[in-house]
Amino acid sequence: MKLEELYQSKCTSAEKLAEAVGDGWVFGMDAGPTQTEAIMAAICERAKNGSLKDIKVHTMLDAYPFAFYADSSLNGKVNGVSWFSSGGARKAISAGFADYIPNYYRDTLKLIRDNYTYDAFCIAVSPMDKHGYFSLATTSSYSEAMISKAKRIFVEVNEYQPRAVCNTQLHISQVDAVVVNNHPLPVLPPVKLDETSITIGNLIAEQIPDGACIQLGIGAIPDATGMALKSKHDLGIHTEMFTDSMVELIECGAVNNSKKQIHPFKTVTTFAFGSQRIYDYIDDNPAIMILPVDYVNDPNVICRNDNMISINAAVEVDLWGQVCAESIGPKHLSGTGGQVDYVRGATQSRGGKSFIAFESTAKGGTISKIKASLAEGAVVTTSKNDVDYVVTEYGIAHLRGQSLASRAKQLISIAHPDFRDELTFEARKRGILI
Ligand code: COA
Repeated sequence: MKLEELYQSKCTSAEKLAEAVGDGWVFGMDAGPTQTEAIMAAICERAKNGSLKDIKVHTMLDAYPFAFYADSSLNGKVNGVSWFSSGGARKAISAGFADYIPNYYRDTLKLIRDNYTYDAFCIAVSPMDKHGYFSLATTSSYSEAMISKAKRIFVEVNEYQPRAVCNTQLHISQVDAVVVNNHPLPVLPPVKLDETSITIGNLIAEQIPDGACIQLGIGAIPDATGMALKSKHDLGIHTEMFTDSMVELIECGAVNNSKKQIHPFKTVTTFAFGSQRIYDYIDDNPAIMILPVDYVNDPNVICRNDNMISINAAVEVDLWGQVCAESIGPKHLSGTGGQVDYVRGATQSRGGKSFIAFESTAKGGTISKIKASLAEGAVVTTSKNDVDYVVTEYGIAHLRGQSLASRAKQLISIAHPDFRDELTFEARKRGILI
């Protein structure tokens, strides 16, 4: 059969596809805008109005307000299981009707291959090319593993999806059903940069030499640091998430990837999510490689670029240097994502540095984010043995290789002044200030 005939023979509607779903099916999706909005909406609608039950949907960093995370009446019918947890997933996990799989992002392909089988892998793709291939558009991440463990593959073809040339490709012969769903991709609201995040961004930018290779994490501070790097030269990008500030750095000439030891002249990432500007940049662009996360986030790969700089955020840090970026006390907030992958990769790189950066206080200045001990029930994301630099608007503490007393002194010196006496008292009480 000709490629176009094969394509047409697999075309169906989201509603018809949902009709064929059986009780207990497990679905897999990857991160961000390659998630399948229409297919999931049809499955949830059918479950809501009928008898469909025990469906599980694995997701990560969601681009859509999926009903299985927004509507608790779907509990037991369709439940979300998150590999990261943000937005709707975060709320549903806290409310007790969604689940979370702890992981280092780099390990997800092996964890999927070792532990899960999917009744269907669902992915939104760009239109089929003349050879019968769909580009997995903005995301590579763990898709290859889900494809290898899926009984069926359902694609939503969207002409607004960019065609990422250096990315996993899916052939029409591998696909079981095609749903056409043309719509502009979801965008993230632009991050608001306040005075504090700009101060922190500038402090970190002073530590970054020309020619460095950067990773920026999620949140206002990594974004502010990106914007503070516009006057640098010959920067490179090897990152997990490709963001708006990175497109800005490429387009203003600060990033040219010329000094990278691996993939010179290419930007390397595992997924992209943000503005239309990002999606336009990816389209048909051989200068950006969107590759599987077990390669991109492998610390042994990350460290092969000299002067690797990673910048990530946190909820709180204790005086040992333990970093919590995932919970507020026992309350679930986020996932580990690639934080530890990049802390390790950057610290192993020649000339590399890893920064954990945050505003010194939370909740309108009432809570110090530098604590004598982490809040009860808090989750450790980056351990005391991995942590490198910690940054607030009051300065930078260099913890790696330093004693407990040195860590405590440095951390207290970058805490908000209102909390320094209390932290000093608590540190002495614990015997960690000499
Ligand atoms: N105590 C109490 N509440 C706190 C707090 C603390 N110590 N620190 C933060 N919060 C609250 C904030 O007030 C905010 O609450 P709100 O939503 O009601 O306003 C919420 O927690 C989020 O904090 P904020 O600082 O605005 O988050 P952010 O958008 O800058 O993201 C992380 C910070 C840590 C959640 C985010 O970076 C993350 O998910 N990290 C984990 C994974 C990671 O680093 N991946 C990197 C590679 S992508």
